[in-house]
Amino acid sequence: MERIMWMNGGNGETSYDRMSVVQAYALKSLQPSLAEAVHIMNLHINPSLLRIADFGSATGRNSLACMDFVVACIRREYQSRNSLMPEIQAFFNDLPANDFNTLFSLLPPMKGAEEPGAGLVREYFAAGVPGSFYRRLFLRDIPALFALDFTGTLQIPAEVTDPESELYNRGSCWIMGGKPSIAQAFAEQSKTDLRKFLQCRAAELVPGGILHCYLSGRADCADPTNQTIPERQHRFMTGYDFEGAWDDLIEEGIITEETWDAFNLPIYIPSLEEIQDCINTVGGFEVIRLEHLEDLELYSDDARMRMLQEPKKCAKFSSWVRSLVEPLMVVHMGSECTDEWFLRHERRVATRCRSMLHNRQEQEHYKFLSADFLLVVLKKL
Ligand SMILES: C[S@@+](CC[C@H](N)C(=O)[O-])C[C@H]1O[C@@H](n2cnc3c(N)ncnc32)[C@H](O)[C@@H]1O
Repeated sequence: MERIMWMNGGNGETSYDRMSVVQAYALKSLQPSLAEAVHIMNLHINPSLLRIADFGSATGRNSLACMDFVVACIRREYQSRNSLMPEIQAFFNDLPANDFNTLFSLLPPMKGAEEPGAGLVREYFAAGVPGSFYRRLFLRDIPALFALDFTGTLQIPAEVTDPESELYNRGSCWIMGGKPSIAQAFAEQSKTDLRKFLQCRAAELVPGGILHCYLSGRADCADPTNQTIPERQHRFMTGYDFEGAWDDLIEEGIITEETWDAFNLPIYIPSLEEIQDCINTVGGFEVIRLEHLEDLELYSDDARMRMLQEPKKCAKFSSWVRSLVEPLMVVHMGSECTDEWFLRHERRVATRCRSMLHNRQEQEHYKFLSADFLLVVLKKL
């Protein structure tokens, strides 16, 4: 998974850089809790140096905005205490295949640089850190605030892709509404990954440092096949249009059923209880916040109506899905089949948008681009 998982690079039409405004909207809502995290962290462990890391930075636009916000909060904290601001080092982590070049090219010039230009300036030294956040990435005991937005990307459990196994995920690319035993295998894998993530950060973070996490989440833990409530499934990228585009390719003889069966989305949406359980097992953190943010609107009603009225904007929903999963699909079935898949997906999304435009009830029902999140803020003991 580490070798084949990345967001679409560059800054073309379907790049993550261009398509991540939805995530940007969600991240903006995090600002109060990020400011609170800066306020409560132990800022004076090392008076001359502070390190901050962002995990899963992708190509950077949102990550850099978050970093600027956090640094501004730190500056305010030091000003309010009449203390000298330390030097700050910021780390941007993602998997090795990520397009770090786009991220680096978006970095504004350093404050005090000879030709700073008219726009933003940067108040931190930047470094890219390639590698999985499920492993150690940093030296021990660095004075740091770890800010993080990661979608629970996970390793696909081996049995799920083995045609000989009872857990082979035939006829589906995910676990929503699927076989409970397969969803359970994803749930176990997610717990293993989350524990590893917390263990590594517990080893790296200095006492008093903060781990601020924001991830897709669900409220109840009872049934992992219910990754979101059924009425919301269409808002999610794995909804009917996603599955339908695979059906189209099979019906038209472009791919075989086996190609579809062997594809799995490396996503598991954990519940609050599952996260709490991992935190308890790993230990070493005080829980500052553990909250379920229900049905966060990522688009206003007006923006959604404008989107429905303009076919070009509607197609953007398909481009958004593309910015997230195209690399996985290209590795799985090659770029030609992937292009064919997105043609059909875009067509289906356009049809759905047209029918929604004239149907108020359907508009309510298919409020896509809203989602549930978990906010987890931990302080290292
Ligand atoms: C949806 S993007 C979020 C990007 C960015 N934080 C934002 O909000 O726009 C999730 C990012 O996490 C990265 N990622 C997934 N699994 C990872 C892992 N195990 N280690 C490091 N990065 C990972 C992906 O490559 C992707 O760039």
